[in-house]
Amino acid sequence: MKLIERPRRLRASRAMRDLVAEWDIRAKDLVQPLFVVPGQGVRRPISSLPGQEHLSADEAAKEAEAIYRAGVPAVLLFGIPPEKDSAGSWAARLDAPVQDATRRIKQAVPDLLVMADTCLCEYTNHGHCGVLREDGSVDNDATLPLLAAAAVSQAEAGADVIAPSDMMDGRVAALRAGLDSAGFSQTAILSYAVKYRSGFYGPFREAAGSAPQHGDRSGYQMDFRNGRDALREARLDVAEGADMLLVKPGMPYLDILAKVASEAQVPVGAYQVSGEYAMLEAAAERGWLDRDQVVGESLVAFKRAGARFIVTYYAYEWARRALAR
Ligand code: PBG
Repeated sequence: MKLIERPRRLRASRAMRDLVAEWDIRAKDLVQPLFVVPGQGVRRPISSLPGQEHLSADEAAKEAEAIYRAGVPAVLLFGIPPEKDSAGSWAARLDAPVQDATRRIKQAVPDLLVMADTCLCEYTNHGHCGVLREDGSVDNDATLPLLAAAAVSQAEAGADVIAPSDMMDGRVAALRAGLDSAGFSQTAILSYAVKYRSGFYGPFREAAGSAPQHGDRSGYQMDFRNGRDALREARLDVAEGADMLLVKPGMPYLDILAKVASEAQVPVGAYQVSGEYAMLEAAAERGWLDRDQVVGESLVAFKRAGARFIVTYYAYEWARRALAR
């Protein structure tokens, strides 16, 4: 048959497919999350996230060096404090695990970007992302100065990027003002502007011991039934001074990512969250999915949808594998 168009011609060989491929995942697109714990010489597997570990600050610095050598430009730090209280006081302490790890990482690998997750849920004994009123609801405005104090101490420790994930209204403006007045006008803000209340954070909450002790996060995180809210949250955060935005979760929210990435005037990243990772890992372990194939597929999907960068628990592994090829 005489056909003018035969798209299959471009799929005939590996070389041809590589030549014409629109998207590729490079190490430089990726951000590796790390969980930092108190102590020294600690490296403990996280059961809900196979392949990921709890690291003390010294071990985090070693890991960061290896991550940087593999070509990954950034790490995102989460901290588990030695103690939790109702106000999440450890979030703003210079001797807290995240601040300590930040200092050590910047010393060991100054060119690696350190992003610090800014939120109270890992630091509060009730597991909510802000302080509570007497009735148990989260007090948005009373939380803002605590978040700003946490951000300033993270910047003081050397963090290049502050990444608020709490979803309080007005927090980007509060953090920006706090950082500027403390002399950190160069510290960037990556806002989790578009963060849905999601069951896909389950394994993370186990890893960070941050599950809410009562109620859930629907009072501040977004309702997954709403798409347009995403654009509103994104617009507000940019107006308040966010330098970059994050959409999360990732895979079930590619429509949202595509919308936000095409409208926002700042770079937008995607977060492939713990539940997405756990899902792929569990199915691969049973032999139900080809792990390499689905990981590559899921990462490219984020780029195709418009993400400039991807926060993923696969970052380091992917980069290492790319180097080996
Ligand atoms: C803290 C925070 C969470 C995640 C990132 N920052 C958990 C939550 O909101 O419950 C989830 C990340 C993941 O699941 O990988 N607020």
